[in-house]
Amino acid sequence: MSQITVTGGKPLVGRVDLKGAKNLVTKAMVAALLGNTPSVLKDVPKISDVEVVSRLLELHGVIINHSDEGVMSLDPSNVESARMVDIDAHAGSSRIPILFCGPLLHRLGEAFIPDLGGCHIGDRPIDFHLEVLRNFGAVIEKLPNGTRMSAPDGLKGAKVSLPYPSVGATEQVLLTSVLAEGITELSGAAIEPEIMDLIAILQKMGAVISVDTDRVIRVEGVEKLHGYTHRALFDRNEAASWAAAALATQGDIFVGGARQPEMMTFLNVFRKVGGAFEIEDDGIRFYHPGGELNPVVIETDVHPGFMTDWQQPLVVALTQAKGLSIVHETVYENRFGFTDALNDMGAQIQIYRECLGGNPCRFGQRNFYHSAVISGPTALKAADIRVPDLRGGFSHMVAALAAEGTSHVSNVQLISRGYENFLDKLAALGADFSYTE
Ligand code: EPZ
Repeated sequence: MSQITVTGGKPLVGRVDLKGAKNLVTKAMVAALLGNTPSVLKDVPKISDVEVVSRLLELHGVIINHSDEGVMSLDPSNVESARMVDIDAHAGSSRIPILFCGPLLHRLGEAFIPDLGGCHIGDRPIDFHLEVLRNFGAVIEKLPNGTRMSAPDGLKGAKVSLPYPSVGATEQVLLTSVLAEGITELSGAAIEPEIMDLIAILQKMGAVISVDTDRVIRVEGVEKLHGYTHRALFDRNEAASWAAAALATQGDIFVGGARQPEMMTFLNVFRKVGGAFEIEDDGIRFYHPGGELNPVVIETDVHPGFMTDWQQPLVVALTQAKGLSIVHETVYENRFGFTDALNDMGAQIQIYRECLGGNPCRFGQRNFYHSAVISGPTALKAADIRVPDLRGGFSHMVAALAAEGTSHVSNVQLISRGYENFLDKLAALGADFSYTE
């Protein structure tokens, strides 16, 4: 289990450069399965989530080359079935296998997916995915360790409505409908920037997709699709993570590749907390301008709301704000597990079952601790920490960097699932740490 020893109290100062968004590039790689010619995806980060999807695609006969500069070529000419046991062995805790279904049903007439892991932030069900696949005509058979799907009569366009604007389920509909026969209409779709970038990729491949003002996505199925060439959207979750790190360590970080339009909601909150930013042509400078940080009330939501993935690192900065901040997490039911370690370091964070600070959400009056009240400022003291998940892990790293003293942070390989060259970036920002495998 990899571990880093961090001596906190030093501001992070310097520059990091982003590659493509983890939550776009993994789906764009799956989309290449739909093309009858090779695709090229640019700005693909070397992170373990990309590794996992590369292995899964290679299991199905796709030839992949990923250059050091981040250019990935994918040749799907010889797609073939893979054995469930191999898929299971390679999938790990990735949730991406569920998105292989539509493309494999189109290409091979069948697909197998292993049982997907839940994780620390919630149960992560796939009921919406299975429901929309049935609407397209897929036959779904539950096996002891996964699910087998077939499409004996092919896949036909469907009129589907999501009970919640799920990112994954929207991607499921997009990846299945583009080659389905006829029209698909999806109501209640997610419209995150990563979704819009995936739609752009599918349009490049020959798909016909429209997104209406009422969040209804309409797709006209086509006979065939060809490969694409695309530069992936930047990773706005990583951008927000480094911005929060600059605030929590009283630092100054230039995030190359970050763009304002996709970060507007975050930038407003960052400014209200007391952070400062400067928008440049090639990125955004995030810095602590001195003075006190202010408490804020945040309610996470689907786009264009405050992204659920942005709250964990920002909570660390809120422990340094003078007063009470509230975070009402409405996307995942259990996304405050990471606050235990922060409290062990001296933070004062209480979590509640009530919907605090905003509108009642799906988790209200059920047994989910999905609201947090952060009281500050509190001095953070070094501690021994075990990283629980990707975004919580980044927030633990930030807390250790902000704390007085030397912390030992273990299980840090979870952070490299979503942050390319994480340790090199910390070193470039002047962090005082050492790393042991
Ligand atoms: C994607 O997860 C991202 N992951 C998440 O980022 C992100 O937080 C999330 O979208 C929301 O923006 C990837 O893209 C790989 P959802 P996804 O389906 O698609 C419920 C990170 O750290 N739901 O929008 O799985 C679900 O339980 C990760 O990069 C069902 O109930 O998210 C949750 O409460 C964390 N049934 C809500 O919808 C379903 O079939 C939103 O989930 C599917 C989802």
